[in-house]
Amino acid sequence: MVKAKFIPFVNFCEQTLEEMQTNAKNFNEKMQKRRTIRDFSAEEVPLEVIENCLETAGTAPNGANKQPWHFVVVGDKKIKSTIRQEAEKEEREFYEKRATKEWLEALEPLGTDSNKPFLETAPYLIAIFDKKYNVLPNGTKSKNYYSSESVGIATGILIAAIHNAGLVSLTHTPSPMGFLNKILNRPINEKPFLLLVVGFPEKNAVVPDIKRKSLAEISTFL
Ligand SMILES: Cc1cc2nc3c(=O)[nH]c(=O)nc-3n(C[C@H](O)[C@H](O)[C@H](O)COP(=O)(O)O)c2cc1C
Repeated sequence: MVKAKFIPFVNFCEQTLEEMQTNAKNFNEKMQKRRTIRDFSAEEVPLEVIENCLETAGTAPNGANKQPWHFVVVGDKKIKSTIRQEAEKEEREFYEKRATKEWLEALEPLGTDSNKPFLETAPYLIAIFDKKYNVLPNGTKSKNYYSSESVGIATGILIAAIHNAGLVSLTHTPSPMGFLNKILNRPINEKPFLLLVVGFPEKNAVVPDIKRKSLAEISTFL
């Protein structure tokens, strides 16, 4: 049994009601500008920015404080090229064989296909792994709780941090993604969660003309 230990909470970010309203509005306006980008430029990104965004992601609330995530940052051209080859192999299978008609129809407005040039063009790929369990030094397994929910929240915070830093991202999920364990040398207790492509948009980047649901559509106040 470990006895819980408490320390004073000194980091409350207290604001006036006015500041609260302004900050909530400004953050909303900023996040409304986030889009998934598929046309990346090759422009370099300072690694320190990525490091800060990852530390931000690591602040995510998580099941039983197990922090069940691992981020692999890939800037190496050869590794990016191998990831592209493997991802495109899976994507061809998906678009040509595995995807249902309904799924392909849902993807139509996005105009995506099995070609993923951004996996090589973008300066960084961040492979996010969900640690389903931990392997202790003596070889026994220790459980993680709500790991998918936790990693999902961390990923959301990471995407917001990347956007806040003035970069763009693409949430990419070649399915299945088991090839990432092999290429990136990650153990089997870590399940690939998704691949985040990070960088700057190409000068003439375009995005699908799609709409976000309104507040009334996504919420209920009782
Ligand atoms: C879990 C998840 C998986 C996704 N997988 C892909 C993907 O494999 N390829 C892709 O081009 N976009 C992918 N997306 C991006 C979505 O298509 C995009 O977020 C959605 O169309 C809304 O567009 P927006 O991000 O520009 O608002 C994925 C997003 C999420 C959250």
